[in-house]
Amino acid sequence: MQGLATDVVLQNRLEQIDSKVEEIRFPDAADGVDQDEEWCEIVVKGEKRRIRLHDYADIFRIPGFYEELFYDHLKCCSPSYIVNLLDSVVREYGERPDEFRVLDVGAGNGMMGDELQVLGVQSIVGIDIIPAAKEAADRDRPDVYDDYRVADLTDLPEVEEEHLRETDANCLTTVAALGFGDIPPLAFAKALDLITTPGWLAFNLKESFLREQDLSGFSRLIRRLNRDRYIQTLCYRRYQHRISITGDPLFYVAVIARKLKDLGDDLLESLQGG
Ligand SMILES: C[S@@+](CC[C@H](N)C(=O)[O-])C[C@H]1O[C@@H](n2cnc3c(N)ncnc32)[C@H](O)[C@@H]1O
Repeated sequence: MQGLATDVVLQNRLEQIDSKVEEIRFPDAADGVDQDEEWCEIVVKGEKRRIRLHDYADIFRIPGFYEELFYDHLKCCSPSYIVNLLDSVVREYGERPDEFRVLDVGAGNGMMGDELQVLGVQSIVGIDIIPAAKEAADRDRPDVYDDYRVADLTDLPEVEEEHLRETDANCLTTVAALGFGDIPPLAFAKALDLITTPGWLAFNLKESFLREQDLSGFSRLIRRLNRDRYIQTLCYRRYQHRISITGDPLFYVAVIARKLKDLGDDLLESLQGG
């Protein structure tokens, strides 16, 4: 796709598109692109566009593009990796995943829901902040989620919260969705608050977000949750989540934990305002 970078159409909001991506091109290593700024250029219906990899709404509007981009080209393995890890930790603990009612937060177009369904969980409720994610899940995986809500967990209307609590979820999953301007610590804590006690928790996070010097707030939150016995981490495993657009491995940490006690308003209020 020679010369695409110079004459590419920069268009942020795509309408729903029914045709396939004809070509994908990634920038060169020399362009030194940060993970949050990663982009690619595509041709759809003969038209060239540049898309940021974190502009999920645009990506979800093209059927199959999310899978092609992140799973085929960038070798993402996280949904299956985390579901397999959850399965083995839960069984070692003496419980069974077929007793799980899952809240899948940052559900996107349903890749994680797919894996959970194969695992044989009782029910799956998806939550995402963008309507395009729900539209894509309804379009591509209509039988996976028992319910799918578009909601902002940092500002949840009371009626929505009641509805989510009624699902009586006993397992929270959030995959490839924490940090990077996506799900902030407050929303993650709120999601944890919405599941029952005791409960299960499976998530992944870029490894740098779990270092002491991390500024996203996740490292501090996870340490606090463990230290104050809100959760007990049973498994913490570093693995390759995917490769970057220039082919370098991106390492994440997969965490499987038990929720041991209710979070309480103090903890949630302390996370308000970042
Ligand atoms: C990379 S996708 C991951 C989707 C899916 N979990 C997977 O593994 O394929 C990240 C998703 O998180 C969602 N997201 C970002 N911020 C969010 C928030 N504050 N609350 C809920 N979902 C959010 C995005 O809209 C996007 O659908």
